[in-house]
Amino acid sequence: MKFVNFEKRERIGIVRINRPDKLNALSPEVLEELKLVVNDISKDDELVSAIITGTGKAFVAGADIGYIGTLDEEGGYEMALMGQEVFSAIENSPKVFIAAVNGYALGGGCELALACDFIIASENAIFGQPEVNLGIMPGWGATQRLAKKVGMNWAKYLILTGDRIDARTAFNIGLVQKVVNHDNLMDEAINIANVIAEKGPTALRLAKESINRSFELGDFGFKYEALLFGKSVGSPEKEEGIKAFFEKRKPNFFK
Ligand code: COA
Repeated sequence: MKFVNFEKRERIGIVRINRPDKLNALSPEVLEELKLVVNDISKDDELVSAIITGTGKAFVAGADIGYIGTLDEEGGYEMALMGQEVFSAIENSPKVFIAAVNGYALGGGCELALACDFIIASENAIFGQPEVNLGIMPGWGATQRLAKKVGMNWAKYLILTGDRIDARTAFNIGLVQKVVNHDNLMDEAINIANVIAEKGPTALRLAKESINRSFELGDFGFKYEALLFGKSVGSPEKEEGIKAFFEKRKPNFFK
């Protein structure tokens, strides 16, 4: 692949957006490669979690502005659907996706990080939804996921002003879960991915699914949680987890 590198380290996948001369801007070609990699990760029985990061000084500086310039209304609609499909595949993947944000995460870059399950940021990271500066609005999920993740007020502030925020501010509003020294970003992200990769994959998948649906299900959300809890209790992984607890050892869910 030309624009997306993928590396497998035991139960962790590492995805690098690799178009540094354009600050990893997501052209249709980059998105297409990302889609293939995400689908491969989701189907890979050996993988439990995956990290997405960027090469160079940016995580992703947004959708490719040159490409947007060529589009009419219908093209814009198609482009929105194309990105949304990839980002929803990340959000709905049975694997846990961590965004390791190494620099600019603007526009589609911020939306890509939002589609991940949570975000670890370098102290150099910058977040923002600057689309309004270009006379357009976000189209790859920010109007939906930002409000859910950081609340309506911050979503409106970021999307309507186009302002950029640093990693600390992103942490303070709950967009980022951990800010780390720039040089340690990948080590920290890999450590967290490894912690997750030791858990039972069925429990992770079911818990992620239940959380993902928490905003849409209303009261039925509790029933849905109970159904998925039942599935986790009925899984062979529970046998091992509880046996290991009483034998005072670490569980091994991968025998
Ligand atoms: N789409 C296409 N190309 C982009 C891009 C994007 N979203 N973001 C950056 N690039 C390109 C620049 O055009 C430049 O290309 P060039 O060297 O051929 O001129 C190259 O990447 C480096 O960017 P540059 O602007 O020179 O870097 P900088 O350090 O001065 O500024 C940013 C960095 C991120 C502040 C600036 O690039 C920027 O504002 N990018 C657009 C962010 C945005 O609006 N994203 C939402 C898009 S919908």
